[in-house]
Amino acid sequence: STLRRSRSGSRHLLRRPFASSSAVPERKVAILGAAGGIGQPLSLLMKLNPLVTHLSLYDIAGTPGVAADVSHINTPAEVKGFAAEEQLGQALEGADIVIIPAGVPRKPGMTRDDLFNINARIVKSLCTAIAKYCPNAIVNMISNPVNSTVPIASEVFKKAGTYDEKKLFGVTTLDVVRAKTFYAAKAKVPVSEVNVPVVGGHAGITILPLFSQATPATNALGDEEIKALTKRTQDGGTEVVEAKAGKGSATLSMAYAGAVFADACLKGLNGVPDIVECSFVQSTVTELPFFASKVRLGKNGVEEVLGLGPLSDYEKQGLESLLPELKSSIEKGIKFAQAN
Ligand code: NAD
Ligand code: LMR
Repeated sequence: STLRRSRSGSRHLLRRPFASSSAVPERKVAILGAAGGIGQPLSLLMKLNPLVTHLSLYDIAGTPGVAADVSHINTPAEVKGFAAEEQLGQALEGADIVIIPAGVPRKPGMTRDDLFNINARIVKSLCTAIAKYCPNAIVNMISNPVNSTVPIASEVFKKAGTYDEKKLFGVTTLDVVRAKTFYAAKAKVPVSEVNVPVVGGHAGITILPLFSQATPATNALGDEEIKALTKRTQDGGTEVVEAKAGKGSATLSMAYAGAVFADACLKGLNGVPDIVECSFVQSTVTELPFFASKVRLGKNGVEEVLGLGPLSDYEKQGLESLLPELKSSIEKGIKFAQAN
């Protein structure tokens, strides 16, 4: 059984408190939309994460197969699948982190905002359940348009009286992943050493990579190359949507990015110091109520929202240009949640 497998795999360490460096505390991660294009590889990656003790996989279609499949992997995380709406409560109960990749993806020619009508409803109903069944969980929002779905989640939680701004994250890690990859190739530096903050939001020009702060620093890139890198990062999602030609958007790189971000949240929860990732969170960094920037993660989620640091003139311009679009996407989400 799942239970027996988990016990022997864990050598009983999972039932003990977090006392020694070899023991990990119990952590339940729930994935909503687990049988989708992102959900499946994300479920796989979370099953491989040694910090996960319980993995709860929920989808409205296809969950049993994915859960059975992933559960055969001989790692400690105990896998349970939940297939129907009546089981959503069970899927969520006790969750420390809820990752949400539920919703429809783009096809060529669409913007992320074109997904709003369908995905806003899905996110609203899932967040209503989170407020009821695991109000203290950290939420990692992947469903697009992130610039609107995060504000929707915040409003749903406010209405339910459970909102904790430290625990709501829009996942923008894929923008960072792309910026690192593209920068490393152009600057000819080892990709594993590269860091690039990406701020703003998660759609088109609202995605603002700060290549002036990229490390390892390089003098090799001129203004035109920085512009091209910025544009490629901003259009990274569209590059994949077009390459997939109607079969969806980024799933594998997104699952990787989602797993990186969830791992950072788990480490923060477990008290590992100095865990910093970019994420779209409630913020006072700009005049907008939500903004992506570097965030220090801790035992309660957000420990500190870090400022932007010094920007190049090109980045300052990019920041000015993105604010109106990001503002209206945030307001659209808030209005939807208040009206529905
Ligand atoms: P997909 O269609 O392959 O999978 C979505 C899954 O969600 C399906 O299995 C579907 O059954 C499920 N689902 C739908 N309604 C649900 C509900 N009410 N409850 C639970 N599950 C439900 O799509 P995908 O490629 O996995 O993309 C999912 C979302 O992630 C899209 O909105 C996409 O735009 C977004 N996305 C975000 C990023 C990012 O960087 N934040 C990156 C890539 C994709
Ligand atoms: C991405 O950046 O790949 C996602 O937001 C999916 C998309 O629609 O581009």
